[in-house]
Amino acid sequence: MTRRLAILGATGSIGTSTLDVVDAHPDRLAVVGLAAGRNRELALNQCERYRPSLVSVAESEDAAWLASHLNYRPAIHHGPEGLLACALHPEADTVVAAVVGAVGLASTEAALRAGKRVCVANKESLVVGGALMLKALREGGGELLPIDSEHAALHQLLTGRPVETIREIRITASGGPFREWPLERIRTAAVEEALNHPTWKMGPKITIDSATLMNKGLEVIEAAVLFGLTWEQIRVTIHPQSQVHAMASFIDGSYHLQVCTNDMKLPIQYALLWPECLPGPVPPYDWDIARAWTFEGPDLDRFPCLGLAYEALRVGGTAPAILNAANEEAVAAFLAGRIGFWDIQACNAEVLRALPAEEAATLEQVLEVDRKAREVARTWLGFSP
Ligand SMILES: NC(=O)c1ccc[n+]([C@@H]2O[C@H](COP(=O)([O-])OP(=O)(O)OC[C@H]3O[C@@H](n4cnc5c(N)ncnc54)[C@H](OP(=O)(O)O)[C@@H]3O)[C@@H](O)[C@H]2O)c1
Repeated sequence: MTRRLAILGATGSIGTSTLDVVDAHPDRLAVVGLAAGRNRELALNQCERYRPSLVSVAESEDAAWLASHLNYRPAIHHGPEGLLACALHPEADTVVAAVVGAVGLASTEAALRAGKRVCVANKESLVVGGALMLKALREGGGELLPIDSEHAALHQLLTGRPVETIREIRITASGGPFREWPLERIRTAAVEEALNHPTWKMGPKITIDSATLMNKGLEVIEAAVLFGLTWEQIRVTIHPQSQVHAMASFIDGSYHLQVCTNDMKLPIQYALLWPECLPGPVPPYDWDIARAWTFEGPDLDRFPCLGLAYEALRVGGTAPAILNAANEEAVAAFLAGRIGFWDIQACNAEVLRALPAEEAATLEQVLEVDRKAREVARTWLGFSP
């Protein structure tokens, strides 16, 4: 069977790695839809190469530019409706949700509701609208497979295991570029320093989230949604070598670890092809090379964003959506050079505690909470990023 993919966020780090996986298995994977943001040159190249029948970009002027430059005639869409059209493309059976941020929420939900296999890298969808995504999955009757490496690892460790037999899970974190930095130095870290991730090459937003450990916090919430676990059952372990991606402990006292080279093509291929296992895109792990692995607990004083994520998960309802919105605004402001590194956690804490958490009943309600939280964040930050 050939899977027919619609890739949302095709021009990003996960999107381009997904296309590398397609190149490795051209007989099993085909691209029928591509959605990009503003990188129209790369979108053009991708379209010419993969010839999807539907393409979408963020802005109408880029859609017009594509129409005048493409050597064939796909359906061309733009804006949030374009993302939705790509997610719902009738020719696609598999959707890769790899845009960055809460802008991916509606398209992930729509693809789940339409009963597609949805491979989710866009963790913000699950953090902001976890219960709604699960509801759409149930009602649509499709599949939800994680692409985040830790969650793909957990999927491998937990599939077939009744939830009541799971004692705890641990997701690992490299610790980011500031793992060994004293608090005083972290407070004044520069943008280039925060973008200098020691083990992963990723898009800018997730790279900053890795420096604050907010990324790990979002992943804790994501794990709670995906695997039906409580916050007490989900722990974070700092593992700078990024070779063990997750661990699961069961009530019989056993511990199981998932190990692989840190290359996102592995979890992407796993999600696209599961339950099939085909030759991998990276060389197998070489156990004969001498190396040491280390593990330690996280320091919440130096990385308070992780504690905020646990707080949001404990509170529940729309609290994770509030935290995520504040964080997206704060990270954008930091990347634009308008606030300092330490202001990110301050903004997140302020907005999380300023707004009451409600039950997250509908997509519209969650999007409204997201909008309000961004407003409060922008006011706190002193401008509109
Ligand atoms: N990178 C990783 O290794 C990694 C690992 C695990 C999970 N994730 C998650 O995967 C998601 C993507 O991360 P990434 O690192 O691939 O990010 P990225 O490199 O910044 O790529 C983001 C993608 O989203 C597109 N996009 C942004 N805004 C859009 C909009 N309004 N409409 C349509 N498309 C839009 C971008 O388009 P343009 O570039 O064309 O503007 C780009 O294709 C994030 O949720 C991240 O947390 C990433």
